[in-house]
Order: sequence, then structure tokens, then C-alpha cells
Amino acid sequence: MPNPPDLAALIESPLARDREAGSMQRQLHERLKRAILDGGLAPGSRLPGSRALAEALAISRNTVTAAYEHLAAEGYVQPDRQGTRVTELSSPAATTTKRSRKTTGSPATAHRLADIQPRTAFTEPDATFRPGVPALSHFPMAAWRRALDRAIRTASPATLGYGDPLGEPRLRAAIARHLAIARGVRCEPRQVVIAEGAQEAISLCVRLLSNPGETGWIEDPGYRGAKSAMRAGDMHMVPIRVDAEGLHASAEDWQKHPPRLIYTTPSHQYPAGAVLSIARRLALIAEARRHGAWIIEDDYDSEFRHTGEPIGAMQGLVPDAPVLYIGTFSKTMFPSLRLGFLVLPEALLAGVQAPLEEMLRGGHRHEQLAMADFIESGQFGRHLGRMRRLYRDRQQALRLALTRHLKVPHAIDGGYCGLHLTVRLPPRFDDRRIAAEALRHHLAPVALSSFALQPLPADNGLVLGYGNTSAELFEPLVKRLSQLARAAERQGP
Ligand SMILES: Cc1ncc(COP(=O)(O)O)c(C=O)c1O
Repeated sequence: MPNPPDLAALIESPLARDREAGSMQRQLHERLKRAILDGGLAPGSRLPGSRALAEALAISRNTVTAAYEHLAAEGYVQPDRQGTRVTELSSPAATTTKRSRKTTGSPATAHRLADIQPRTAFTEPDATFRPGVPALSHFPMAAWRRALDRAIRTASPATLGYGDPLGEPRLRAAIARHLAIARGVRCEPRQVVIAEGAQEAISLCVRLLSNPGETGWIEDPGYRGAKSAMRAGDMHMVPIRVDAEGLHASAEDWQKHPPRLIYTTPSHQYPAGAVLSIARRLALIAEARRHGAWIIEDDYDSEFRHTGEPIGAMQGLVPDAPVLYIGTFSKTMFPSLRLGFLVLPEALLAGVQAPLEEMLRGGHRHEQLAMADFIESGQFGRHLGRMRRLYRDRQQALRLALTRHLKVPHAIDGGYCGLHLTVRLPPRFDDRRIAAEALRHHLAPVALSSFALQPLPADNGLVLGYGNTSAELFEPLVKRLSQLARAAERQGP
């Protein structure tokens, strides 16, 4: 039989005698209930006799009896011939202890989440060189506020209710029109699904198209968010190397690890900067068709092409390509807007429409309507034009500053597009150490090696975002980086 409970623990502190603390009966009831729930009063143990407890707490015996009766009425205790016994409850405390004992060495969250680790500390977006952040102070806030105002003023009260789970039809139509012209994407508005940014769109692809354990190809080095989405979908991830022509899948890769999903950033490989060559695009589409695989084309920053002709999306390269095209307004507008989109292949529409309608709830309807207005009125296009010029200048200025002031051997990759460039360093310069040290100076470049699942010595360097860093700062900042790089040089034979 379990031991009688430790009276000392129950009488450890006297009950409060002020009005705010509540009646003695209520305080005692609360104290006993807590002790039962957190295991201090074990299931099956007997409560102290009412007289003894009343004396120990200097309260009336009736108060104790009333508290016991209250607990009995709630089922926490049961009176029997020898006194009052604590019920065998599956209390939260008991279950927690049991579970943690049973799963020693195993995380409380799903196993698939265990590998998802933040590789870099969260930094404020204004930290210089942080990749992926657009020029926040150049955003046309007044024009956006007017678009929002118009959306709120002209929308009916019905807009406060649930809308189309796949997004506001007006925005989906505006995106379809814009993509056809700007990116060569072939689609109808009904193929466009609004998501909370590209990240949610990638997760949706994984949830809609893969079963646990199926193979997902990921660019190596590659975008970490895509890996997390595949991990969270319990996919078997296979890293595929990227080179100067982008994702490089060999015949052996197709044979040994036929994929269900292929994640790629063909217009501007993230983070190494290559453009997927046309030969590889066509081969990837043909092989994906042959193997029944789907390509996830993440076209996150290609609106900002700095040199040469714009490169169209893979999605529009051939009719009915097995491609799910993803775009985002995080770079073209601002990240906290959380608006992105997924263009579904026609062939998938019938199969995924109903699940999507059940999984999604739409929302942010005024923002979506304001975004549609922004595109339709031409303000989006004008903003893109201004930003393209700004980023082109920043990209050139950063290249120049690196050439002049980065006094360690290096090579610059990419930068023909988007908001970042990648500086490769010889392996003896410890890129993670440089990035960690840089953070202490409010600089937030990211170590190239941290993007690789199977890093090679060549995956060493720094990914430098120039979107949100003013060009006047490049010279002193690159000088600082240069010092940090030299200090992080490994000494060896
Ligand atoms: C390659 C790539 N894809 C997707 C995203 C995510 O964008 P969003 O903010 O739309 O989720 C980013 C963000 O930096 C990115 O670099």
C-alpha cells in the first residue's frame, strides 16, 4: 500500500489570511488538487486525517472536511472506510514521467524534426549582407498604403469572412497574367494557389505529392527551407551536386535514386548562383516525365536579372511540363507580407483541388486584394523596374569592392540575378568562423558550407546579400570582412 502522504509538504506554508487569496476552503482545495495533479500526492495514497491537517494548518476541521468533500465530488479522491484515498488518475504529471521514461533518448517532437536545426542565429533584417532581404527602405510605402486603403474601402463586409481557400480570384488572375509576360509561365488563374510565401508553397508540394519515405532530390549546396520541408514530410532526401550549369543529375542518380520530387532553383541556383543550362532543363523535364517525378521550380528572385536576356521559367519551356512553379512577393515586395504562389500543372488540378480546399483557409484577403490592385495598376511593374536598377548598381558596386578590398584569394559566383553573390574561399579559410565573427560586427553573410548536406572542400565561402545594404557601405564592410577572413585562416602544414 502506498505510504501516507507527507503532511509536511502540505503544511509547508500556512494558508493566506487575506481576502484576495480566497477562502481557506478554496485555498486548501487548490493546494490538494495541485499536489494530486503533479504527483506529490500519489495515486492510491491516503489524505491526512482531517483533524491532524486542521491542527497543522490552524484552521477549522469543518474547512478540511468541506475541501475533501469538494475533491471527492470532482473525483480527485474517494472516501473509504479508513479515510480518504487519492484516485488512480492518469494525471498529466504521471503521463509525462511515464512517457519520458519510455522514450529515453528520443525527442518529444516527431523524429523527422530532430534534424531540423537553425544553422545561423536569427539576425535582424537590417544586418548588412544578410541574404534574401530586399531594400526595405526603398519600398513605396505610401503607394502600398493607398492600395490597402482602397482594398478595405471598396471591399464588402463579406471580405471579412472566409474566402476562396486557394486565394482571391482577382489576385490569382493578376499573377497568371504577370507570370505569362514576365516569366513565360503558361497557366490559367485556376492553376494559381496563393500561399504564405514560397516556403509554404514548397511544404504544400511535399504534402500533396509525396508519401513518407519517398525520395526527394535536393540541390547540394541548396536552400535549407526546402530541406526542412522534405524532412518534415518524412522524405528520403538525396543531395544532388550543383556545378557551373546548375543541378547536375547523372544517369546513376536516376537509376539508383529515382525521385518523386526534385527541388531546384533553375534561374538562379540558391546559393551558388548558377543558371540551369537549357540542355539540362530539357533533360530534367524528359527524365522526370519518364520516372513519374515532379519538379518543384523555386523562382524566388529571378525578376531581378542584371545581365543578358531574361531567362524564362522551366514551367513554360514545353507544354504540360511536370513542373510546379513557385514564386514569392518576399523579394519583389517585402518578406513580412507573407504572400507567395504555387502554379499547379493542369494534370494535377483535379487530384489536388479538394485536398487543398480542405487544407487551406485563405485569409489576408485585404492584402491579397491590395496586391492585385498593385499589379493591375502598374505600380508593381514600376517598383520592379526601380528595384532592378538599384540591385544592379549594388551588385556591381559589391563586385568592385570585393575585387579591390578582399585581400584573400577568392572567386565570385553568380550575382547575374537576384540579391546576393557568393564568394568562394580556399578551404583553409574557415567560412563558419568568419560568419560567426562577422555577426558580432552586425554583418550577416552566411557560410557557404552551411548550405551543403555533403559539403565538399569547394563549398567554402560566404553568401553575401546586397539587397538591403547601401552601396556606400560596401568598401568599409568588405575591408572588415577581409580582416575577419584573414583571422580565420587555418594554420597548417
Ligand atoms: C531559394 C529561396 N526560396 C524560398 C525562399 C522563401 O521565401 P518566402 O519568404 O516567400 O517564404 C527564400 C528566402 O530567402 C529563398 O532564398
